[in-house]
Amino acid sequence: MRSFSLCSSALALFALPALAGPSADNTCTPLANGFAAIDDSPAINAALVECGAGGTIVLPADQAYSIFTPLDFSLCRHCDVQIEGTLILAAEQLPYYGTLPYYANGATRSVFTIANATGVRIRSVTGSGVVDGNAVSWYQRTKWSPKTGGYPFVHVTNGSTDVSVENLHFKNIQDRVFRLQGGSSNLRFEDVRITAEGINPNYASFDNFAFEMGKVENVSIANVDIDFGAQTGSDRPVGTCVSFDHGTDGVAVANVTCRRAFMGAAIQFDTISAFAPSAANATATVSNILVSNFTFAGAHATGVESWFNLSKKVIRNAVWEWVTVEGGTPAEFDPCYASMRDTQYYPRCLQYATYDAEVVFRHYRGKVGSPPTDPRWGEVNGLMDVRPVFEDWVADA
Ligand SMILES: *[C@@H]1O[C@H](CO)[C@@H](O)[C@H](O)[C@H]1NC(C)=O
Ligand SMILES: *[C@@H]1O[C@H](CO)[C@@H](O)[C@H](O)[C@H]1NC(C)=O
Ligand SMILES: *[C@@H]1O[C@H](CO)[C@@H](O)[C@H](O)[C@H]1NC(C)=O
Ligand SMILES: *[C@@H]1O[C@H](CO)[C@@H](O)[C@H](O)[C@H]1NC(C)=O
Ligand SMILES: *[C@@H]1O[C@H](CO)[C@@H](O)[C@H](O)[C@H]1NC(C)=O
Ligand SMILES: *[C@@H]1O[C@H](CO)[C@@H](O)[C@H](O)[C@H]1NC(C)=O
Ligand SMILES: *[C@@H]1O[C@H](CO)[C@@H](O)[C@H](O)[C@H]1NC(C)=O
Repeated sequence: MRSFSLCSSALALFALPALAGPSADNTCTPLANGFAAIDDSPAINAALVECGAGGTIVLPADQAYSIFTPLDFSLCRHCDVQIEGTLILAAEQLPYYGTLPYYANGATRSVFTIANATGVRIRSVTGSGVVDGNAVSWYQRTKWSPKTGGYPFVHVTNGSTDVSVENLHFKNIQDRVFRLQGGSSNLRFEDVRITAEGINPNYASFDNFAFEMGKVENVSIANVDIDFGAQTGSDRPVGTCVSFDHGTDGVAVANVTCRRAFMGAAIQFDTISAFAPSAANATATVSNILVSNFTFAGAHATGVESWFNLSKKVIRNAVWEWVTVEGGTPAEFDPCYASMRDTQYYPRCLQYATYDAEVVFRHYRGKVGSPPTDPRWGEVNGLMDVRPVFEDWVADA
């Protein structure tokens, strides 16, 4: 197939035939080269420049785009990006995204980079759109290190506002599917499907996250299905569905299913580790979290599962309700989750973890047993104050 693009105005950015005059509605339709070995990102990026200010970028259903280099949504000012076809990340690019040193506030590599943007709508109108991270080989690499894990595929950062992702299927994404941070606000995810096949079970939750966020305000995640699959032959749960790190304020998660996952919807301090406040006197806060209509099958459904102890932690107004547990521990408070692995941090973490936490778990159904009754639930030392409320748990299996 020939490479060409239909754009509303100046085609000067492309060395391409001018196939159409300016379209009155400011729509760009970049087409794929049709060769897996040719990068289609430049054409899509050119369309984002061309039509990103108030326009529409259409990636038609019959197109398969081969992605080698990042797509930059930063210039979007109320753009409407309609992915009806398939975007496939070139497998040979996975190390490029996965091996840079990690930087705190947005300097890491990402495939969809949404930094300092206002009004970004990424969706499939028809529901046929697929974003394929092509990471099956990446999942199976034998060497794991926290330094090479944890890269965002879709990175919303640097004060982006009014960003939505709707009606799309993200499959086999390397590491984090969505990382939201950098003071971004008003972010919405709706009718999204996230699947992965063949994750190495030894990585447990450490590499793969569907949503990971910190320093964000007003996030809504609704009607989302997440299914993480381990390598053939293993039924060990893998990955984390929704994770709240410090600075997260105002999140509603509703109608989300999370299956075959190691962790469900949990406050997890210090997963975005380079970004954690680490002074002994620093405080990390997570506030105003409402998770409702959450269905879970895996290892750890809800609660607090922090990785490290890099600061004092404060949790306010965190509520999980109408949670259906098909399998796994319904609610947990583990301030030193790094204990899951044998690390040098574990004993120090247990000794120093400092929490002031108010958490509510109500209307639990399914395989929930009886709620915990230990008045010191979650507390591992004299520095922790955890005040949980457990209400209306009805075990039906
Ligand atoms: C965010 O802003 C910082 C500081 O201006 C910059 O260094 C970084 O590259 C930006 N991140 C992205 C993803 O653009
Ligand atoms: C966003 O871009 C504006 C200029 O358009 C700049 O002044 C501001 O510092 C940027 N913010 C971040 C967080 O990068
Ligand atoms: C977040 O939502 C609240 C309540 O709707 C609103 O008052 C606040 O301004 C929003 N924050 C931002 C950054 O838009
Ligand atoms: C959740 O699903 C219920 C039932 O389908 C629906 O009524 C409700 O509006 C949904 N919630 C959100 C936030 O979309
Ligand atoms: C845990 O935090 C305390 C202060 O809150 C600090 O003194 C201690 O060194 C921290 N431990 C680790 C392993 O970071
Ligand atoms: C935290 O400690 C640092 C170094 O000890 C000090 O400079 C800073 O003022 C302290 N901050 C607060 C809020 O106490
Ligand atoms: C949860 O599900 C019930 C029953 O479908 C629905 O009425 C309610 O609106 C849902 N809650 C949210 C926050 O979507």
